[in-house]
Amino acid sequence: MEWDNLARALDGAQSMRDVGMDPDPWQERLLRSQARRILLLCSRQLGKSTSTAILALNEACYRDDSLVLLVSRSERQSLLLFDKVLRFYRQLRPVPSVKELAGSIKLANGSEIVALPGDGDTIRGFSGPRLVVLDEASRIPDDVMAATTPMLIASRGRLVALSTPRGRAGWFFEKWHDGDPGWERINARSADSPRISAADLEDQRQILGPRLYSCEFENEFLEDFDAVFSAEAVASIYAQDDEELALPALDLELGGF
Ligand SMILES: Nc1ncnc2c1ncn2[C@@H]1O[C@H](COP(=O)(O)OP(=O)(O)OP(=O)(O)O)[C@@H](O)[C@H]1O
Ligand SMILES: [Mg+2]
Repeated sequence: MEWDNLARALDGAQSMRDVGMDPDPWQERLLRSQARRILLLCSRQLGKSTSTAILALNEACYRDDSLVLLVSRSERQSLLLFDKVLRFYRQLRPVPSVKELAGSIKLANGSEIVALPGDGDTIRGFSGPRLVVLDEASRIPDDVMAATTPMLIASRGRLVALSTPRGRAGWFFEKWHDGDPGWERINARSADSPRISAADLEDQRQILGPRLYSCEFENEFLEDFDAVFSAEAVASIYAQDDEELALPALDLELGGF
């Protein structure tokens, strides 16, 4: 193994430095962790996709014959994460590739990284992953969770679930709070980021209001998250209806003259 690869294999955070980013302390912890189960509760735009893309790449490049699955609630979301993986892979090319497709890459060391849609049936077609990444885990439906975790039994693979918080219910919320010592929990908040200024955060607080801000930027699970959002959805539907109704009424008025 050449020297660069040896350094990256020994220190998971090195790959991130090699693509030109200085890892934040929580990113360093995530990339160096050996835990089999990790929950990453992380505010918006802090770098969770970036750091888990590096994690996925490390796992595939420095462990031969590793299957790495990227799971999220939609294909589009999984592909966004995969694009990051591919970008970093092309920067470093730690191992030659055998096949590069939209949504999957096969490496010469027998490893493979695959982006999957949030669809239980597709997920059930895979087996023995070395690592499963659950992106935006608080938005992944229960049937997808049920299709995913049993795959890890035979491979004794790793599971890393990352998310911003949402409501006070659902798999991610429960796992974050259940105290199960089999999980490493990493809590990364916007205020800890050297890239997000206090002024930017205050701006976001003004835009979102205190409740949504506390969810997106302070890692608070909201009591009535769905109610808040459905109230907003209803308000926006009424706003649309008003616009649609206003136009014909105007036409009528004009037509009358
Ligand atoms: N350690 C770092 N050093 C420099 N830039 C970073 C670092 N970590 C992340 N970034 C940059 O921060 C931005 C947000 O990163 P990323 O998309 O990974 O965040 P995220 O938490 O997944 O965001 P979202 O909440 O929107 O899903 C990107 O432009 C990324 O390149
Ligand atoms: Mg992201």
